[in-house]
Amino acid sequence: MAEPTGTVISVIGCGYLGAVHAASMVALGHTVVGIDSDPERSDALAAGKAPFYEPGLDEMLAQGQATGRLRFSTDIADAAEATVHFLCVGTPQSHGQHAADLTYVESAVADLLTILKPDDVVVGKSTVPVGTAAGIADRVRAAAPGADLIWNPEFLREGFAVEDTLTPDRIVFGVGRDEVAARARTVLEQVYADILASGTPLIVTNFSTAELVKVAANAFLATKISFINAMADLCELVDGDVVELADALGHDTRIGRRFLNAGLGFGGGCLPKDIRAFMHRAGELGADQTLTFLREVDIINLRRREQSVLAVQSMLRGQVAGRRLAVLGASFKPDSDDIRDSPALAVAEALHLMGADVFVYDPRARAAAERKSPQLHYTDSALAAATGADVVLLLTEWREFTTLDPEALGQVVAGRRIFDARNALDPVAWTGAGWEYRCLGRPSAGRHLDQA
Ligand code: UGA
Repeated sequence: MAEPTGTVISVIGCGYLGAVHAASMVALGHTVVGIDSDPERSDALAAGKAPFYEPGLDEMLAQGQATGRLRFSTDIADAAEATVHFLCVGTPQSHGQHAADLTYVESAVADLLTILKPDDVVVGKSTVPVGTAAGIADRVRAAAPGADLIWNPEFLREGFAVEDTLTPDRIVFGVGRDEVAARARTVLEQVYADILASGTPLIVTNFSTAELVKVAANAFLATKISFINAMADLCELVDGDVVELADALGHDTRIGRRFLNAGLGFGGGCLPKDIRAFMHRAGELGADQTLTFLREVDIINLRRREQSVLAVQSMLRGQVAGRRLAVLGASFKPDSDDIRDSPALAVAEALHLMGADVFVYDPRARAAAERKSPQLHYTDSALAAATGADVVLLLTEWREFTTLDPEALGQVVAGRRIFDARNALDPVAWTGAGWEYRCLGRPSAGRHLDQA
C-alpha cells in the first residue's frame, strides 16, 4: 500500500454522486475510503467496476485502485481515520408525497457522529431541503470539539459526472460564522486546491443560501425545459418550428441555447423530485404560493409523455392494439443507464398498456429497464427492435440513434413511420427516404421538404 498523501477523506454513500466524488478525490491526490451500506455496490466499486454506467468512471476507479489510495467498505468504522467526511447519500422523493425522504441523510449523520474526532470536517453534498444543514451542523459541533460542517452542493450531470466534478462551473461553500468555521473552510479549500487554482469561482455563503443554490438551479433548468416545451405546443398550432425558435432565442446570451431542447421533457433522479421537494419545503415555510409555478412546470413536463402517446396513436390512425412498435432508448437521457422517472420508459409502458407489442432497445439501460418493466420486449440492437415495426419511436437521443441511416432502417420495418420525440433527427433526410416523420413542435415534414 502506498503512503497516504493529501487529505484522508471518507465518502459516505457511493451512488452516482459518491462513487464519482470518491474517484475524483483520489485523482486530486487524496486518500479515500468510500462507505456504502450496500455490500454489492461496495464490492463492485472495490473491484474497480461502477455499478452504473458513467463514461470514464471505470477507468478512474481502476487508476484510483492502482494508487493504493482508494478503497471501499460497508463499515463506518473504516471512516474513522479520515479527517474530512463527505455526505453523498441520496434524498429520493418520499413515497406518496412530494417531500424529500431524508432517511439516508439521517442515518449517515448518526453513523458519522459515532466516529467523529476533534477538528474533523463534515461536508454535505446531498440535495436537501433548505434548513437541513443548520441542524446537522449543531450535531456535528456537539459531537467533537473543533468539528464543523460545510454545505457544499454538487451540480454534476449524469453522463458528464467526472468532468463536472473535476472542472465544475463553480464551487459553493455554506459555512458557519466563527473561528471553527473559518478553519473548516481552510481545510476544504485545501482539498479542492487544484480545482480552485485553475480559476473555478468559489462562492462562500451561509448554510441556507448554499442549500438553495442547488434546488434553485435545478428548478431553473426544469423551468427552462418546460418553457420551451410550452412554446412547442404553440408552434404546433401555428405551423411554427420550435427548434428554429430555440436557436433564435439562444443567440440572446441572456437566455442561452442550452436546456432549450423541446421534446419528451425531463426525467431522472434529480429534476422531477427536486422541484417537488422544493414546492413542499416552500409550503412548510409558509410560502406555498411562491413556487406554484413549479407545479405548472411539472404538469407541462408530464404532459409531454401523454402527447407522445397520442402522436403515435394518430400515426397508427387510432389502432395501437396489436401493432408492433420499436422504442429506441429507455434511459432518461443519453450516456446514462439510469431509468429513474424515465420519460422514454413511461411512454413505452403506456403504449404497451394500450395493447401494442413494444420492442425496446437501449445501448446501456437494458438490464435496468428489464427489471423495472419486464412486460416489454427487449432487443440487442436498433435494427432488431425495428424489424417488422409499424412505428419507430426515438425516445432517448443516444448518438447511435441520431446517426441511424433512414434507408437501412427502412429496409427492416413494416411501415416507414418515425416519431422523433427528441427533435434529434433531420426531418428532410427521413422524409426524403420515404418516411412519415412526426415530432413535437415542428411543422409537418412537408414544409421542410418544400424548403429543401
Ligand atoms: C441534473 C442537473 O443538470 C445537474 O446540474 C444536477 O447536479 C443534477 O440534476 C442533480 O441534481 O444531481 P441530470 O439529472 O444528470 O442533472 O440530467 P440533465 O442533464 O439535467 O437532464 C435532465 C433531463 O432533462 C433529461 O431527461 C434530459 O433529457 C432533459 N432535457 C435536458 C430536456 O428535455 N431538454 C433539454 O434541453 C435538456
